[in-house]
Amino acid sequence: MPRKVLVTRRIPRAGLELLAQADCDVTVLQHDEERGLSRQELLHSVGGCDVLLPLLTEPIDRQLMESHPALLGIAQMAVGFDNIDVAAATELGIPVANTPEVLTEATADFTWAMLMSVARRVPAAHDYMQSGRYKIWGPNLFLGADVGSGPDGVRKVLGIVGYGRIGEAVARRATGFDMEILAHDPSKRAIIEADEKVHWAELEELLRRADFVTLHPPLTPRTRHLIDGDALSRMKPTAFLINAARGPIVDESALVDALRSGQIAGAALDVYEDEPEMASGLAVLDNVVLFPHIASATDATRSRMAAMAATNAVAHLEGEKAPNCVNPEVYGSPVWRQRRRRRSI
Ligand code: DGY
Repeated sequence: MPRKVLVTRRIPRAGLELLAQADCDVTVLQHDEERGLSRQELLHSVGGCDVLLPLLTEPIDRQLMESHPALLGIAQMAVGFDNIDVAAATELGIPVANTPEVLTEATADFTWAMLMSVARRVPAAHDYMQSGRYKIWGPNLFLGADVGSGPDGVRKVLGIVGYGRIGEAVARRATGFDMEILAHDPSKRAIIEADEKVHWAELEELLRRADFVTLHPPLTPRTRHLIDGDALSRMKPTAFLINAARGPIVDESALVDALRSGQIAGAALDVYEDEPEMASGLAVLDNVVLFPHIASATDATRSRMAAMAATNAVAHLEGEKAPNCVNPEVYGSPVWRQRRRRRSI
């Protein structure tokens, strides 16, 4: 029986090799790395596959899933899966898998790169050198903010919103900077309280006290616009916001206003509310550093993510429980059985 896997856009070789070794018939829909897929292209092609391997750039909604009654599973190459209607997938008997854990350390490293970049104005200083503007050393050149305790010996406060694997890895790194670490995540309160590195804080206290606020929750209805104009107004005028999670967690227009008016000192963003678009005025501010969603982008990490997605895809084909299934309750359900039967007809 053919084992057709539809990979929406080009993924690292490790994933494609694994699918080939498992005798899958693989179609990569989009090879141009700078182009996405239109909804029509995806709707048109999904019908011919057994398993779909999408990226976070493709909305996988109920209509798309309903259009294919024999789809056996979705194996997304990303840890975040807010682009997939998982409730609809479960209702329709479709297992959905993601790629957690392998990207935790790379993402935490990059969060720190972002934090350091905005606090010490690294990209602007680099541009200054590259454009040949450095004429003489001066005591006022590119003054930034201390990250470790500065000359006054006062420890800086790091506020971590979202204390899953990545939030915890960010905290681990912060201990090296001797920071006071506050964490807020209602679903992880017991974990935070048991973790000696961090102190539990309500969001309001965290925003009020932190010198750096870094965001790591998944995007859910609860976290959408968690950082809105009101939240930004509670932050210190010397504080920085870092977002390497999902863009819509921040109200980006409100952020532009807060950065423009000096309500907060700066922001480092790897993700955007309407990615790849940016809110009007954001790109020209000089107190932001901006990146194209690359927090997990190390060669080794992305290869592992692709291999994991492929492993999940093969499990979907075999009817086995995918190692990283996010809706495991689907297995054995009548609708899941019906899908598998349709395939064997
Ligand atoms: C994810 O995996 O969700 C990241 O945003 C991209 O690595």
